[in-house]
Amino acid sequence: MDNPQPHRTIIEPFKIKMVEPLPMLSQSERERILKEAGHNLFLVAAKHVTFDFLTDSGTSAMSAAQWGAMMIADESYAGSQSFERFEKVVKGLTGYPHVIPTHQGRAAERLLFGALVKPGMKVPSNNHFDTTRANIEQLGAEAVDLVIAEGRDPANRHPFKGNIDLKRLEEFCSEFRGRIPLGMLTITNNTGGGQPVSLENLRGAAAIYRKYGIPFILDVCRFAENSYFIKLRETGQNQRNVREIAQETFSLADGCMMSAKKDGLSNIGGFIALKADSWLHTLRSALILTEGFPTYGGLAARDLEAIAVGLEEVLDERYLSYRIAVSQYMGQGLNKIGIPTVQPPGGHAVYIDAKALLPQIPTERFPGQALVCEMYRSEGIRACEVGSVMFGKNSAMELVRLAFPRRVYTQSHFDYVLEGFEGIARRKNELKGFKMVFEPPFLRHFTARFEQVL
Ligand code: F0G
Repeated sequence: MDNPQPHRTIIEPFKIKMVEPLPMLSQSERERILKEAGHNLFLVAAKHVTFDFLTDSGTSAMSAAQWGAMMIADESYAGSQSFERFEKVVKGLTGYPHVIPTHQGRAAERLLFGALVKPGMKVPSNNHFDTTRANIEQLGAEAVDLVIAEGRDPANRHPFKGNIDLKRLEEFCSEFRGRIPLGMLTITNNTGGGQPVSLENLRGAAAIYRKYGIPFILDVCRFAENSYFIKLRETGQNQRNVREIAQETFSLADGCMMSAKKDGLSNIGGFIALKADSWLHTLRSALILTEGFPTYGGLAARDLEAIAVGLEEVLDERYLSYRIAVSQYMGQGLNKIGIPTVQPPGGHAVYIDAKALLPQIPTERFPGQALVCEMYRSEGIRACEVGSVMFGKNSAMELVRLAFPRRVYTQSHFDYVLEGFEGIARRKNELKGFKMVFEPPFLRHFTARFEQVL
């Protein structure tokens, strides 16, 4: 498999000059907190969490260069210099001449889908992220997942499990032509385990979309991690630099939507960028109505500055090799102590297969939730259940996602976490399931409450 760092020890390619305390609570304190929160980690205060792996979104540590750029931001309502800098970086990276800032990824989704998607239409992708799906569905259209079969098999070690099934995509476009307002690909494929999409697959999808006259829009929030995986794993790509690979990726599509909270190394922000100007007028009008003037799009100018610097820093290959090494190290470390994970580890996260780890807990007793609670109770780790709690009876898998914030935790933190998992692995047969005692009408995982079934 990949060997992104030459030495055994993974080193952070940065020095730290600003620190914040790591909350350390006793087990009995955590047990009380867990009970008060109805055994739902979304209801636990961050100050009570030691290792927060709930998401990699908006949780990055910013660099001195980013903080420095924020201080010189031009907060003018219209035509600020910060927007000029932001626009220049996005144009240079993507090659798309039209850039629309938004306050985060889902705002970009709402704007673009709002302009293009009508009831009864269908939008294909490898896997839609949940807000992407929800934004399509609330317009009365269908979000269709066409990831390759290997991408749905947790044990399969295919190097590009995020690829879209080109045969099914061709059939789909042929069958529903005229009802597909845009075609998508998500890089990396978050819903499918943070798995990359190859350049070859991107080219194939682009050709099919072009053949049927369907605009091709990329969801690029983890474009740098995807480009680095291409460098490591795709034949003939090893000698290219990541920026070139990213630029080729963008060149294959007609535009993109980005949540800058991931590979923008920023705490908020996003954008839409497009090759053609045909939708610009509609998008900018909608932007002004709900987000803000087209040169700030719901962000402060200092956020635009942070993103402009972040988009450059994220392409540093020493950073990317460290980033990918961390998720690989965590995946392998968990497997070594008998904790099964989706293979291979993703770019931003490792997904534990809770169903395989806890066979004594039936799916209706939420094995993922049982694991998430035990991780918090015994080690102060917060992670996210991605299974029957989140998706209800339709869930195909019972996973727990450990998503790693960028540049936040050190190698010894990760070793400490793995040590904690050794105890969890030893106690796995003692873990009990949960029943849901409160269920809100929608998006239940955020506010549901649970009780342990003894
Ligand atoms: N697309 C993908 C692939 C995402 O992973 C996310 C967010 C979004 C779009 C929406 O962006 O949060 O800025 O509105 N994913 C986060 C996560 C929330 O935890 O995976 P946003």
